[in-house]
Amino acid sequence: MKKHNFNSGPSVLPQEVLQQAAAAVIDFNNIGLSILEIGHRTNWFVEVLEEARNLVKELMQLDDTYEVLFLHGGATTQFMQVPMNLLDTNETAAYCDNGIWGNKAWKEASLFGKVNVVASSTDKNHTYINKGFDIPADAKYLHITSNNTVEGTQWHSFPQTDIPLIADMSSDIFSRPLNFKQFSLIYAGAQKNMGAAGVNLMVVKKDILGKISRPIPAIMDYRKHIEAGSLMNTPPVFAVYVAMLTLRWIKKEGGLKEMEKRSIAKAGLLYDTIDTLPIFHCPIAKEDRSLMNAVFFIKDESLQNKFLEECKLNGMIGVKGYRTVGGIRVSMYNALEYESVVAFTDLMKDFANKN
Ligand SMILES: Cc1ncc(COP(=O)(O)O)c(C=O)c1O
Repeated sequence: MKKHNFNSGPSVLPQEVLQQAAAAVIDFNNIGLSILEIGHRTNWFVEVLEEARNLVKELMQLDDTYEVLFLHGGATTQFMQVPMNLLDTNETAAYCDNGIWGNKAWKEASLFGKVNVVASSTDKNHTYINKGFDIPADAKYLHITSNNTVEGTQWHSFPQTDIPLIADMSSDIFSRPLNFKQFSLIYAGAQKNMGAAGVNLMVVKKDILGKISRPIPAIMDYRKHIEAGSLMNTPPVFAVYVAMLTLRWIKKEGGLKEMEKRSIAKAGLLYDTIDTLPIFHCPIAKEDRSLMNAVFFIKDESLQNKFLEECKLNGMIGVKGYRTVGGIRVSMYNALEYESVVAFTDLMKDFANKN
């Protein structure tokens, strides 16, 4: 039976990326060695790293005022690495709290300096994105989570501000063209739209660095990683390779415009189906709904397990809502095919008819 992979991350990857990665585990580029066996300072790997870095810059249309790093530690490490590098103890950073990940981010930042939570959607269970809030001009930076993976909301336009804008883009990176130059720092774990778990993409405008007095351990210091070209220590070689293959795939398929077109088609079909079938309910404000993660509920809670059981029987993987939110969550990352959403919405219709 064909499996439809709606996992929230790690999640679906393009078939051809999986095939290329699998082949490279046995023999990388016909050199007679596995990608897992080559040194990270060999030309073989340095070329992979260089291509990945260039693809990031090309897809995001960034110039040389930005640096691209591939780091260890997942997005969670960035929750503390960002303030460690940018926020002095007596300074204040502004944070938006629109969900579990943004909440974790500002709590980590408060270990390094002062935090001003300038917007929060906790009043309505994170079912919307705050708009029109004040951003203090003296804040060191504003941090947002561009897509709230757990709650199913997404920023479709960004706050206009003169202070550096920082975004955790873990769950919608490379899913849409944006004016990436409006951000001073972007980070994302790779395991959703960009490849395998184990590597973290970090894009930074160089001029925001070096402005604090705190000593920073070398492995945490962005400037040291830039100097070393992401090779300060052994990088996650295989994860960087899979990210490079996925970036190549995105470019070949038509870039971020094409990814967005596909996402709008997939999410459009799913949200339309939810809104037209009375047994389902999506509590997320329509203008803030995520194109990546749709969160919704069956009005009659007693049908929830029956629906999940039907999904399992029909090869629909990873649709159970996050443990603190409940309900259903369908993730539609770049590599998820439109046909999978068709299969899922057919199942929803069938279930609604029967129940
Ligand atoms: C938006 C967002 N930020 C951060 C994280 C944490 O990422 P990691 O597990 O790579 O630390 C996740 C994980 O799903 C996420 O969705």
